[in-house]
Amino acid sequence: MNILLTGGTGYIGSHTAVALGQSGHEVTLLDNLSNSDTAVIDRIAQIIGKRPSFVHGDVRDTALVRELIKVHSIDAVVHFAGLKAVGESVAHPVDYYANNVQGTVSLLQAMQAESVKSLIFSSSATVYGVPQYLPYDEDHPTRAINPYGRTKLHVEEILHDVAQSDASWRVACLRYFNPVGAHESGLIGESPRGIPNNLMPFIAQVAIGMRSELQVFGDDYPTPDGTGVRDYIHVMDLAEGHVAALDYLNGRPGWSAINLGTGQGYSVLEVMQAFERANGCAIPYAIAPRRSGDLAAYYASAEQAHKLLGWSAKRSLDEMCASTWRYYQTGV
Ligand code: NAD
Ligand code: WQD
Repeated sequence: MNILLTGGTGYIGSHTAVALGQSGHEVTLLDNLSNSDTAVIDRIAQIIGKRPSFVHGDVRDTALVRELIKVHSIDAVVHFAGLKAVGESVAHPVDYYANNVQGTVSLLQAMQAESVKSLIFSSSATVYGVPQYLPYDEDHPTRAINPYGRTKLHVEEILHDVAQSDASWRVACLRYFNPVGAHESGLIGESPRGIPNNLMPFIAQVAIGMRSELQVFGDDYPTPDGTGVRDYIHVMDLAEGHVAALDYLNGRPGWSAINLGTGQGYSVLEVMQAFERANGCAIPYAIAPRRSGDLAAYYASAEQAHKLLGWSAKRSLDEMCASTWRYYQTGV
């Protein structure tokens, strides 16, 4: 199939381009390069032996998206493009609604006009909010607790309305847990601009000497070692989940929400120790106050993904750490 990846040069988009390319799909990447750069395209080409098409542009440019859907005979869209920093979304909610919600509406207008009605949307576990029980399954009530999370929830609801209005739409909202790691080659990975918000890139930057120590945000949570627990998922497992979701959508109209996680939670200290073990390096750390807005613990029920998509994550925490380190050692 011919697949359009909005936000395709970003972290998850680039890994998904590899997984789709290796499964025989033709991929076209659309990105405004607000949080990525074109160097990744050569690297994808190096891995899959073929250069994906790239269009520099904004997903809110409906005319451009219509045109590229036509030119590249797009059959389905995977919609990654968006802003994703929780703290920034609290400070600049309008930018987040404009990019994430308006961007999706514009994409839907283009798809509708060109009669392309298969869509995978990058949603997030953050839509669930404060856990009423764990693991979160897809029936857990949704109640996002920050503007970023609310953009994801609004988009899920918009997509639900669209699928209800016209039985030929096929929509899967994939609720990612905590994607980490890099492609096994070390050629592509996550390189955040500025100080990383997320745990794994921060650990990697301490390991490589860019930062002096990891600050562990809180050690008094009601978790086994007092530090926050999350469901970290290898980005290549996540990428392969998209390939499975595309197969699933083929011939199956309607809307669905599916968790992509491992079902297993790890604490901050466990991740740090796994990184030290996998890569033979020491990570200096200090306990710091809790980070505002953080939840103590959450992890996925991965049953629905297994049942519907026939997919489950298979890479270990050590592989997540080892691939991250390999990527950093390539000098990115
Ligand atoms: P990323 O920032 O690396 O990738 C997003 C890409 O979209 C970037 O390349 C950026 O330049 C591009 N982009 C942003 N706005 C755009 C626009 N208006 N038009 C065109 N391109 C635009 O982020 P990522 O980690 O790869 O995340 C991809 C998606 O997955 C996002 O929607 C994010 O909210 C979602 N998600 C990410 C995580 C995570 O922890 N990384 C977790 C859950 C959900
Ligand atoms: C993980 C754990 C921190 C950094 C975020 C978004 C979420 C989703 C994924 C997009 C927590 C602790 C972190 C550090 C630390 N994104 N930590 N020191 O907060 O679970 O999720 O990314 O949808 O919406 O909120 O991920 O990697 O920031 O934190 O101790 O320097 O590591 O407190 O317990 P989080 P994270």
